[in-house]
Amino acid sequence: MMNDIADGAVRATQNGPAPQDQGDLAANRKKVLRQAFGSFATGITVVTACDRHGNPVGFTANSFASVSLDPPLLLVCPSLTSSNIETFRNAASFAVNVLGAHQEEISRRFAAPVDDRFAGLHWTKGPQGQPLLDDCAGWFACSRHQVIDAGDHLVLVGKVEDCGNMAHPPLLFHRGQYRQIASVPVQRQPLAGAATTIRVGILALQNGKVLLQRAGADSWEIPLGPARRLFGEARNACETDLAARGLSVTLTHPYSIYDDGEQCESRFLFLADLPPDADLPAGMALFDPGNLPLHQVRNIGMRDVLRRLAQERQRGRFGVFVGNPAAPGRISHITGSSESWPDFFLPEGQPT
Ligand SMILES: Cc1cc2nc3c(=O)[nH]c(=O)nc-3n(C[C@H](O)[C@H](O)[C@H](O)COP(=O)(O)O)c2cc1C
Repeated sequence: MMNDIADGAVRATQNGPAPQDQGDLAANRKKVLRQAFGSFATGITVVTACDRHGNPVGFTANSFASVSLDPPLLLVCPSLTSSNIETFRNAASFAVNVLGAHQEEISRRFAAPVDDRFAGLHWTKGPQGQPLLDDCAGWFACSRHQVIDAGDHLVLVGKVEDCGNMAHPPLLFHRGQYRQIASVPVQRQPLAGAATTIRVGILALQNGKVLLQRAGADSWEIPLGPARRLFGEARNACETDLAARGLSVTLTHPYSIYDDGEQCESRFLFLADLPPDADLPAGMALFDPGNLPLHQVRNIGMRDVLRRLAQERQRGRFGVFVGNPAAPGRISHITGSSESWPDFFLPEGQPT
């Protein structure tokens, strides 16, 4: 992303923006950088120390990172604009308090211009006097190890003198919003457009008939190219594969983009034109859309695509389907409005 920003800057310079535009460009690059940083989900900490009068000070920070186990080091980056920057630059000790999901109010308080951020809070002093907030998910009492100037922030490297943690779920921050961990397991299944495995297939028509290929003695399938990690590669692989079998097709419109639950991959099916006089390779055949061997198509997703193709041909109205197994998906008609996948199959005029 940093390269993109640099590229953007070079491109803008070559295109020769007027001097008054340069401020806008700089502001825009900063915004892009902020957004890119914001794509990284983090936990939230409150970094605390005592000022030269012995009063506790602190600010909300998500720039925390563990650095080393031996010696035990961590870092956090206070902004040079912090009202307490001199305290943090010179403090012999400081603490990092990792907030739990129940402490959003504390995060907001230590990020806002509040006179006494510690008012009404329960806290104790760590081994070197560092302010430790009660009931956090984790805490680190640190001695100063190194302070590095880094742009508009300091990198404060602390040596962990003592630490602890509780079983609280963490408070999270992502794209400028507070979040919590949902008790939903991470899905291995890819989503269309962001998949680890992608296959491109064709709904090739010759003289109004649909091309299918044999998948076994008594089953048929939509011709699919080999699986690839990137869409462009999957599309090329599909065309190359068909060409190797002597079939020259032209992919026209996307027809169906969906996550195939059975195969755990995203499938991009395109309508494709077959030359009217093209010979068919062995194992392929043409079927009238009104007479497709649906009962011999094993993959449910593929069967649904063919069912839709047959119905759309009858209605004379084609669309693009986008969806995944977790949701019904939508068919966006090339003209007119979109409709939900289940509604599509209700006879027209039937109340839902
Ligand atoms: C989620 C979150 C993370 C933040 N992370 C940092 C950070 O890592 N470093 C920093 O200097 N400010 C960070 N801030 C901003 C400070 O908390 C905020 O500017 C605060 O008012 C600084 O107070 P001070 O000027 O009294 O130090 C963050 C704010 C939020 C809400």
